[in-house]
Amino acid sequence: MKISNIEFIGSFKQYKQAPDDHRPAYAFIGRSNVGKSSLINLLTGRTNTARVSSNPGKTQSLNYFLVDENWYLVDLPGYGYAKVSKKEREAWQKMIRQYLSLKENLVCTFVLIDSRIPPQELDISFINWLGEAGIPFVLVFTKVDKLKGSERGKQIRKISSAILEYWEELPEQFECSSVTGEGREELLNFIQQVNERYQQQIK
Ligand code: GTP
Ligand code: MG
Repeated sequence: MKISNIEFIGSFKQYKQAPDDHRPAYAFIGRSNVGKSSLINLLTGRTNTARVSSNPGKTQSLNYFLVDENWYLVDLPGYGYAKVSKKEREAWQKMIRQYLSLKENLVCTFVLIDSRIPPQELDISFINWLGEAGIPFVLVFTKVDKLKGSERGKQIRKISSAILEYWEELPEQFECSSVTGEGREELLNFIQQVNERYQQQIK
């Protein structure tokens, strides 16, 4: 799929403010600093669609981008950012959970997981929540450029087995790097297929 136009629609603090039309939306979520904004930029082929920062906690609202007037990319606030107060963190968590479970045009959530680090309780419990809530999602392992040789497969297997302690099978998985561009084609093809299925459903 080729992308020719990206329009920034807005930054929404409340899930109800976000667009509710018949265009499919794809949300990107994961721990703070996992590479959500970078991945969105990789997909759009622009360096400045979403704001990238080495300071975690940069993305604090639902950031909507309309792609070719046809579908939305949604950059979500990262979870697990330590410097945010407990109260703020809980408020975000509530908003995100409402958003993910109530937005009807949200067709898929990309759960980003840092491939370099051991399985994190926070990621697993978020994935388990998605499963219990029946929210469609896929896994995206980020920053694979940082892992050399057999280390990469080993790391990904470790994270996958931690998830498989709770699940019978894994959802679809992608391995990505916003540095080398790996995974871009695969993700865009996936989105195209889901878009096509969605269009047929709403006809
Ligand atoms: P928050 O908005 O704070 O939740 O962070 P985020 O998940 O949007 O992460 P962001 O895209 O801002 O990236 C965080 C840091 O990781 C930045 O310094 C990026 O340059 C770096 N980074 C992101 N993706 C990759 C990748 O694929 N490979 C490498 N090596 N670094 C990456
Ligand atoms: Mg971000």
